[in-house]
Amino acid sequence: MNLDNLIQKCVASGQLSRDEILYLLNLDGDDDVARLLRAADDVRKAECGDAVQIRALVEISNTCARSCLYCGIRAPNKDIVRYRMPADEIVELAGELNKKGLKTIVMQSGEDPYYTAGIVADIVRRIKDSTQMAITLCFGERPEEDYRLWKQAGADRYLLRHETANRDLYAKLHPDSDFDHRMRCLYALREIGYQVGAGCMVGIPGQSVDNMADDIEFFRDFQPDMAGIGPYIPHPDTPFAGNPAGDVQMTLKMVALARIVTRNALLPATTAIGSIAEMGCEMALDAGADVVMPNYTPLKYRVHYEIYPNKRCITEDPAFDDLATRLQIQATNRRISNDPGHSRKLKISKTLADTQEGVPIPNLGI
Ligand code: 5AD
Repeated sequence: MNLDNLIQKCVASGQLSRDEILYLLNLDGDDDVARLLRAADDVRKAECGDAVQIRALVEISNTCARSCLYCGIRAPNKDIVRYRMPADEIVELAGELNKKGLKTIVMQSGEDPYYTAGIVADIVRRIKDSTQMAITLCFGERPEEDYRLWKQAGADRYLLRHETANRDLYAKLHPDSDFDHRMRCLYALREIGYQVGAGCMVGIPGQSVDNMADDIEFFRDFQPDMAGIGPYIPHPDTPFAGNPAGDVQMTLKMVALARIVTRNALLPATTAIGSIAEMGCEMALDAGADVVMPNYTPLKYRVHYEIYPNKRCITEDPAFDDLATRLQIQATNRRISNDPGHSRKLKISKTLADTQEGVPIPNLGI
């Protein structure tokens, strides 16, 4: 295969075959990898512009019914303090974030049955009534009726990482979850009208480069509105303790390829990549990413949302994480978006499209 031609194809159309994806994932010379990442950055510039979207992440509960082998908040882990944020506290925090100028709140939780469909719908409705923020939910696999109710209540987006697009690996990692069911959830969410986020981990035990190609093919074929890609990080209180973390360069290649095959999807520089590499977020922003998700979970809860150890900014004040995020954006010569950052894949009206450009905004400056 000829790298020059392939890089050209990445920039021009991104319609890569499985063999081409595998070839690019296997690049290992620093110069060759740099060319791939630069091609992704070019696609990002052309398809998405320079504005970086900021999402306020609030981890509302670390209680989880699942036993995913890699995750620190898995149900069998008895060594963590479990918490649930009360509805009033969530709504109040959303109001504060809105006042600070944040345009999207992402509420994330373990799969926690305490938050019934009705409780979540109520929280969504109250936030929607009192703020202008876009609402993203990340509550795992739920019945279709719940997804529908929350959409009607005003939720805009739903993140449900597919974790791995390889059926066999999926089964090994998730003793109590079914690959087909997860896929059905993703398609149902799209059908209901959400902007849908998928995503995967890189370097999870048992994952081959071939399996990673499955993820890129999935992104190419499903065309998610958003996709979160982060390195696996071992947690000591899981069956996977002692495994090595995912590789930074491989994670960057995955982000780059996701950008190349999805063209205009919203791709976060994930907390996980910022946690394993000093400049991880900046590197991801230079390899196709266009979203950052500062953590606004109140500190007393945040320290317990330990899906993996040494999460970036886990002990720091939210204001600090916010500032750090803004500095990172500045370091990459980009600017902060001042629109809600809706999917670029929506068939949007001209008026909404007109608001998608993003301009420098003084009130959020550092
Ligand atoms: N390392 C990296 N990412 C993890 N996640 C869960 N556990 C880990 C880990 N040990 C990711 C999963 C999940 C998201 C919230 O965090 O992809 O969907």
